[in-house]
Amino acid sequence: MTIEMKKQNLIKQAATDLAAADYVVALTGAGISIASGIPPFRGKGGLWERFDPMEIAHIDAFMQDPARVWDILVREMKGVIDRARPNDGHLGLARLEQLGKLKTVITQNIDGLHQAAGNSDVIEFHGSFAWQRCMDCGKKYETRKVDISQIPPRCDCGGILRPDAVFFGEMIPTEALLRSRQAAAACDLMLVVGTSAVVQPAALMPVIAKDSGARVVEINPEKTPLTGEISDYLIMGGAGEVMNRIVEKLEQML
Ligand code: APR
Repeated sequence: MTIEMKKQNLIKQAATDLAAADYVVALTGAGISIASGIPPFRGKGGLWERFDPMEIAHIDAFMQDPARVWDILVREMKGVIDRARPNDGHLGLARLEQLGKLKTVITQNIDGLHQAAGNSDVIEFHGSFAWQRCMDCGKKYETRKVDISQIPPRCDCGGILRPDAVFFGEMIPTEALLRSRQAAAACDLMLVVGTSAVVQPAALMPVIAKDSGARVVEINPEKTPLTGEISDYLIMGGAGEVMNRIVEKLEQML
């Protein structure tokens, strides 16, 4: 059997699993947003190939030199996120929700593209870059309205603004963590799309799903630590192409 035939069979299997599922949850990572122009963190072209995450994405680094972290955030992240639009990977998950076949997206991404694609229940496990909050008074500002002509940007009270995202060294927002664990334990099918599954506790969600009896389906061009251990199968391909083909098959079945 050729690789393409195997992939075709797995896409059909995923559509069959989705048709039979009652409670579907997706866990997504940076890989789903690459086609929208946002680089991943690891692997080819990854941010961590050019920067040390402990120097620019750890809360201690931010506290020590917010201007330096903001300079990199603006150069590497703000522009691409402002310009990014949902791609077929995001739109495919939104279509699954329309078909009644996806309840919740747990995303590690901070780009807001799942909401923009139309998914209505999105848990932002690592917070969001769409908002900034004042380190002194806690006031929140929409990122796109923040004046970045001065770095680091400041609140009306004079306090320094920080992304409403989770830095390394920080806790996952409690509500996001608890809701994700509940969804992972309750689902009977979890799609794991575009994540290297190496960062905890996000990578624990597929383990909780598996442990609770759910099927776990990975969509990724490469294997991850979940493959062969936790996942029932891996469809090796890009999120956009695979989601398009799964949705096409599923619509024929429903
Ligand atoms: N479609 C789907 N997956 C893809 C694609 C694609 N077109 N291209 C690459 N990938 C896969 C890669 O094979 C890799 O497994 O996407 C994954 C990207 O991995 P990471 O860059 O590590 O992203 P992620 O898993 O989301 O990282 C988790 O690490 O640095 C922290 O907070 C950051 O949320 C991030 C967390």
